[in-house]
Amino acid sequence: MLRYVTTNPGKVREALEYLGEGVEQLEFDYTEIQSSSLERIAAVGAREAFSHAGEPVIVDDAGLFIEDLDGFPGPYSSYVEETLGVERVGRLAREEGTLRASFRCVIAYCDGEPFEATPEPVDRGDRRGQDLAAADRDTATTSDTVDEGAVPVKLFTGAVPGRIVEPRGDGGFGYDPIFEHDGQTFAEMDSEEKNAISHRGRALAKFADFYAER
Ligand code: IMP
Repeated sequence: MLRYVTTNPGKVREALEYLGEGVEQLEFDYTEIQSSSLERIAAVGAREAFSHAGEPVIVDDAGLFIEDLDGFPGPYSSYVEETLGVERVGRLAREEGTLRASFRCVIAYCDGEPFEATPEPVDRGDRRGQDLAAADRDTATTSDTVDEGAVPVKLFTGAVPGRIVEPRGDGGFGYDPIFEHDGQTFAEMDSEEKNAISHRGRALAKFADFYAER
């Protein structure tokens, strides 16, 4: 059985739409490392969750990336939502005249086995890997670059482009009211509309194709 490691049952419901019956929620508090890379955060979490669960797991990490603010708040989206708040992030972006943004989601899959080469990257605990963010590569040293015993983790990315607007709509969560895609904010869409185009949906669709073969 595939386990979606999350405290959010809504994510598991969304995953069921792509994966059919074969996925169940696992509530496990894996370590969320501090990193500028969603890939790295999700991969480390998936490796730890697999070692705990002993069966195939997926872990996701997501965030809002405001392009002209160098991707802020990105991997720090939860923290910034709790501290600055969504409306202030929106105001900051609009004051700077920086409207282009995207939501990104990375799904990390681990079942303890190696992976065949496909366009989707694999994290092997190698801090110099091509899938890692430049900031991570820059701080890596030869002594901490490779974890020889690391279990491989396959990564699936989904992104949705949009722009930052004044808050509109009552639905959704997090940054949904200030994120507009195709004329509607995510908070103005019902969950079916949002799931059909969301970053998580796009990552799940890629993962589902891979998993069907696996
Ligand atoms: P998580 O990785 O799914 O927990 O998301 C991290 C943070 O990114 C959340 O606390 C939200 O602030 C933000 N976020 C991720 N996905 C969405 C979304 O679909 N809508 C709004 N905010 C999101």
